[in-house]
Amino acid sequence: MTHRAAGTLAPMALHEHLPSSDDDTLDLRLPRPAMAVQEVPRLRIAATGLPADDAYQLVHDELMLDGNARLNLATFVTTWMEPQARVLIDECLDKNMVDKDEYPQTAELERRCVNILADLWHAKESDGATGCSTTGSSEACMMGGLALKWRWRERRRAAGQPADRPNLVMGANVQVCWEKFCRYWDVEPRCVPVTAEHPYLTAAGAAAACDENTIGVVAILGSTFDGSYEPVAEISAALDVLQAEHGLDVPLHVDAASGGFVAPFVDPELVWDFSLRRVQSINASGHKYGLVYPGVGWIVWRERDALPQELVFEVDYLGGEMPTFALNFSRPGAQVAAQYYTLVRLGFEGFRALQQTSRDTAKFLSAQLADIGPFTLVSDGSDLPVLAFRLKDDVTHYSVYDVSELLRTHGWIVPAYRMPDGIHDMAVLRVCVRHGFSRDLAGLLLRDVRRVVERLEEHGSPIPPDDSRSSFHH
Ligand SMILES: Cc1ncc(COP(=O)(O)O)c(C=O)c1O
Repeated sequence: MTHRAAGTLAPMALHEHLPSSDDDTLDLRLPRPAMAVQEVPRLRIAATGLPADDAYQLVHDELMLDGNARLNLATFVTTWMEPQARVLIDECLDKNMVDKDEYPQTAELERRCVNILADLWHAKESDGATGCSTTGSSEACMMGGLALKWRWRERRRAAGQPADRPNLVMGANVQVCWEKFCRYWDVEPRCVPVTAEHPYLTAAGAAAACDENTIGVVAILGSTFDGSYEPVAEISAALDVLQAEHGLDVPLHVDAASGGFVAPFVDPELVWDFSLRRVQSINASGHKYGLVYPGVGWIVWRERDALPQELVFEVDYLGGEMPTFALNFSRPGAQVAAQYYTLVRLGFEGFRALQQTSRDTAKFLSAQLADIGPFTLVSDGSDLPVLAFRLKDDVTHYSVYDVSELLRTHGWIVPAYRMPDGIHDMAVLRVCVRHGFSRDLAGLLLRDVRRVVERLEEHGSPIPPDDSRSSFHH
């Protein structure tokens, strides 16, 4: 999970080529009898290799410095799967998703998953919904955004109107992938500021920001910042009014990165998906509440025409051709097999039970946290099983960053960050409850939060205030 400073992209893993004089060597003195000391350059390839066991030990030992994924409450991404799923992933590690001809059954599993999702998201059979897997929601959002941009441009050109200043309307609480989309594909981001009362895009805010250059509106189910669902049906209705009154027909994309695998199971009465005619496309992360290890995402368009033909490429498939739309070419097939595994393994009832358990745990945690003196809830896990909480205004001798840092000493990774534009002065902590985070672990987290608070109440902030501590980014 990365977090974002307002107006900047998340710090990417871009690495600089350093001069060889900066190179130092890894001292490979493994605890084995009669092991010769060997030195391995850190930044240049060694002249000769290592025995497999030594290479494994070296890499394995270094990776021990990473956080414990199960205790990483910052991430929405799956950190636990059944052993059978791991076996399946292992069996498929060598399959390339793009080789549809060579691995037709992996392609078939992808087709089944798309159909299952289209159905769960209430696509009408007669509409011919179309979709595919991706590496995650970011790629899916890029593709959803591109389809919106292409279609808007076609409409403008057909009407003899200029098509050089596209904009995309969204809440300031969008995940960074939408800012990336706008920057990479030259679209003006129209981020509507949020308020403390509505820390997400409102119907009125969305409609007011649209004009004839708006390629679409993005509604989020639910917000990365606090897990709250945006009011998709209200936004859709406001866009209907905009069309009736001003003739602007603005399509809606739902970024259901997390909610796409939550709402269908535990909020069946919520109207947010293809049952709204204005919703043209939906993305979700299979590797979040789709309960698959990273990286797999999904995008479905409500009908084939929502996906402009120019964006579709044909690949060989069983002696014929198969239409594809993707930013990557090669991509692992294992995650798609694992997604199909979770769907057949759990069925509707299994998914419902697991997501309900996560929601119950999130609500239990939020109720308990609210009882620990200094905290006020920003969200309580009623939408996504995610809770955000802040310090009460009268707590001034320590900050949420202190709470986060001290929890780290107990092994927990609980991010602290600022809310988006409009309420940027509010700093919160967030816990993403996922399958595998048991009630027992929740109890242990609460125990450690109480310990941390006691220590901070007694001694105050151990670290002088520092602005960089607030730059934990989405
Ligand atoms: C609402 C939302 N959209 C998109 C993304 C990006 O998803 P991914 O990590 O699958 O690329 C996230 C990730 O947290 C998200 O919360």
